[in-house]
Amino acid sequence: MKATTAALLLAFFAAVDARPAVDTRYPYKGPAVPIGDWVDNTINGNGKGFPRLVEPPAVKPATSHPTNNVNVISLSYLPEGIHIHYQTPFGLGEAPSVKWGTNPRHLNKHTSGHSHTYDRTPSCSQIKAITQCSQFFHEVSLDHLESGTTYYYQIPAANGTTQSEVLSFKTAQKAGDPKEFTVAVLNDMGYTNAQGTHKYLTQAANEGAAFAWHGGDISYADDWSSGIMPCEDDWPVCYNGTSSELPGGVITNQYKKPLPKGEVPDQGGPQGGDMSSLYESNWDLWQQWVGNVTKKIPYMVLPGNHEAACAEFDGPGNVLTAYLNDDIANGTAPKDNLTYYSCPPSQRNFTAFQHRFYMPGAETGGVGNFWYSFDYGLAHFVSIDGETDFAYSPEWSFAEDVSGDETMPTESETFITDSGPFGAVEGSVKDTKSYAQYKWLKKDLASVDRKKTPWVIVMSHRPMYSSAYSSYMKDIRAAFEGLLLEYGVDAYISGHIHWYERLYPLGTNGTIDTASIVNKNTYHTNAGTSMTHIINGMAGNIESHSEFSSGEGLTNITAVLNTKEYGFSKMTVVNSTALKWEYVRGNDGSAGDSLWLIKPDSECKSHGKKPSPHHGEHGGKPSPHHGEKSHPVV
Ligand SMILES: *[C@@H]1O[C@H](CO)[C@@H](O)[C@H](O)[C@H]1NC(C)=O
Ligand SMILES: *[C@@H]1O[C@H](CO)[C@@H](O)[C@H](O)[C@H]1NC(C)=O
Ligand SMILES: *[C@@H]1O[C@H](CO)[C@@H](O)[C@H](O)[C@H]1NC(C)=O
Ligand SMILES: *[C@@H]1O[C@H](CO)[C@@H](O)[C@H](O)[C@H]1NC(C)=O
Ligand SMILES: *[C@@H]1O[C@H](CO)[C@@H](O)[C@H](O)[C@H]1NC(C)=O
Ligand SMILES: *[C@@H]1O[C@H](CO)[C@@H](O)[C@H](O)[C@H]1NC(C)=O
Ligand SMILES: *[C@@H]1O[C@H](CO)[C@@H](O)[C@H](O)[C@H]1NC(C)=O
Ligand SMILES: *[C@@H]1O[C@H](CO)[C@@H](O)[C@H](O)[C@H]1NC(C)=O
Ligand SMILES: *[C@@H]1O[C@H](CO)[C@@H](O)[C@H](O)[C@H]1NC(C)=O
Ligand SMILES: [Fe+2]
Repeated sequence: MKATTAALLLAFFAAVDARPAVDTRYPYKGPAVPIGDWVDNTINGNGKGFPRLVEPPAVKPATSHPTNNVNVISLSYLPEGIHIHYQTPFGLGEAPSVKWGTNPRHLNKHTSGHSHTYDRTPSCSQIKAITQCSQFFHEVSLDHLESGTTYYYQIPAANGTTQSEVLSFKTAQKAGDPKEFTVAVLNDMGYTNAQGTHKYLTQAANEGAAFAWHGGDISYADDWSSGIMPCEDDWPVCYNGTSSELPGGVITNQYKKPLPKGEVPDQGGPQGGDMSSLYESNWDLWQQWVGNVTKKIPYMVLPGNHEAACAEFDGPGNVLTAYLNDDIANGTAPKDNLTYYSCPPSQRNFTAFQHRFYMPGAETGGVGNFWYSFDYGLAHFVSIDGETDFAYSPEWSFAEDVSGDETMPTESETFITDSGPFGAVEGSVKDTKSYAQYKWLKKDLASVDRKKTPWVIVMSHRPMYSSAYSSYMKDIRAAFEGLLLEYGVDAYISGHIHWYERLYPLGTNGTIDTASIVNKNTYHTNAGTSMTHIINGMAGNIESHSEFSSGEGLTNITAVLNTKEYGFSKMTVVNSTALKWEYVRGNDGSAGDSLWLIKPDSECKSHGKKPSPHHGEHGGKPSPHHGEKSHPVV
């Protein structure tokens, strides 16, 4: 056993930058087709096999019987470059590559990259809708590009794929470039309920948004389970065998259309049955759906709880426990005992998330898609991981599950979303300062040149504060709030709670910085003392909107709360002293909220000076380990 452990560790350290290997010391114990469509696994949905993939792929195949296809193309920023990620059902038989240049009629450059794959279940070869399945992931990095420049690119044909049309992207404006730009910021976007967000997000991309920044909970692939759970009053996410309507949420006329022939009501996609009951094909479907955005502007992501594993927690009757642990379809179990063993290895530990995106972690001193940063014009953007890699993080590593002198947790000590750590941990797992993520964040923030990028915006999936208080908030505050205040971060954006909530500028412990509130729609920034918090989790997904629990209600930290409409936000960096934030309602594209952040004169003068250390390290000791694992319903 020791040799195995050592070999695994060696493999890990030798390939830090490689895609994850899954720890096979934890065997999968569930059914052969782990995520089965027992609603009707013989259904020939859309004539293409059980995953009902109705969204067009990134590249339309040239023949009616293609043998391979480019389904997804997704761009991201690299320092002074752009990364092109694409996905196919089968390997290419050669290194992936991209032809590119500044003249669309003369793509004079040709750059190759590398591919990776994982053991998705079921594999693409088991699926009839084979050309809309993604199992091979291709990475091509274009470096040393001119800033603020439009380039054209084309993915050549390989092993049965059709070459793409000539597409384009625009590189980031150089740090310090004062030109105004707009970013589309979205969180918690699945498929169901997100039609309006999709429409206006696509429009924003077409109208010149610089990039999209999706702060976790991407696709809700793990909510395949919603499609097999019977409806109950307190569980709006369900399969109602006879209905194509979603209980709860806004039910638009789109949902009331009869199902296409051959479809069964399932997760309540816009045509009633479009979302699959298969984890991986939900990922395929969603990525294809947002393809018109991701192949046009960089699509920057960070991890949310829904990216962790094939399922998150059980519902009424513990239907998932019965299925995944006991292999009983559509049955019940006495208790929710989903463990790390309940998902197959390829559906644990953020594996799909790591294969299906490429963020510049390695290129910016961070880690993969988990934590990284980039500059754009007058702003420095930082994505952090609010799920793993800090003390008492909501998704736990094994080190936090062991008891006594164990080195590995026993089966019953694990939890289905156990994940990470993705960076090194030197010292106690209960001290955030032991973690590579903390050390990186401190270094990253300390190295920002505020004369070039006066705006510093940080996002993670989890809020630090909300009127709907949850205990994870104190842990994420204990981990990061001190650093963000110390380095004068202007705004902290999050999601996780499925609504739009703008808070007042807050200092440590949620102290409202009333002096910085200019009026209802304008705040002054106050580096070192407060920052503005926005919860932007309203993009729309199968879980519908969040609601206050009984006994909860608005507290005085909340300036604006909207729990009714889905949508996303646009953030415009206007100049070195003004930033505009606007909530775009998905139902009609109108503004649901707007906020100006203004840098007062005094702050501009102190730029470059390190704020006083008083606001630095948090004083509050984190409270003891939660007695129970968190079961977030968002
Ligand atoms: C699942 O079980 C419920 C309750 O026992 C039953 O009404 C329903 O028809 C079953 N669905 C399927 C697809 O077997
Ligand atoms: C090329 O595609 C075929 C399917 O058409 C697949 O069977 C084969 O494995 C692929 N080749 C490589 C090298 O991956
Ligand atoms: C299920 O759908 C049927 C038919 O539309 C409807 O009458 C019933 O109320 C629905 N049940 C639930 C629990 O939503
Ligand atoms: C993407 O854009 C093309 C061209 O405008 C359109 O035909 C297609 O339906 C769009 N796809 C999606 C999923 O919106
Ligand atoms: C979970 O509970 C089921 C009974 O519902 C039992 O069969 C199974 O062994 C339990 N698994 C674990 C890991 O405790
Ligand atoms: C998750 O993957 C990382 C490497 O990417 C590994 O270090 C860690 O131990 C894995 N965690 C779990 C719970 O499997
Ligand atoms: C907000 O409410 C808290 C108690 O919940 C109170 O201590 C604080 O003074 C209030 N702040 C303002 C600015 O009203
Ligand atoms: C920045 O933009 C704001 C809003 O348009 C404007 O009032 C202000 O004068 C501008 N400041 C500078 C330094 O250009
Ligand atoms: C914040 O609150 C904690 C616990 O309530 C307290 O221990 C700590 O001193 C407070 N910090 C500040 C800066 O007020
Ligand atoms: Fe979430």
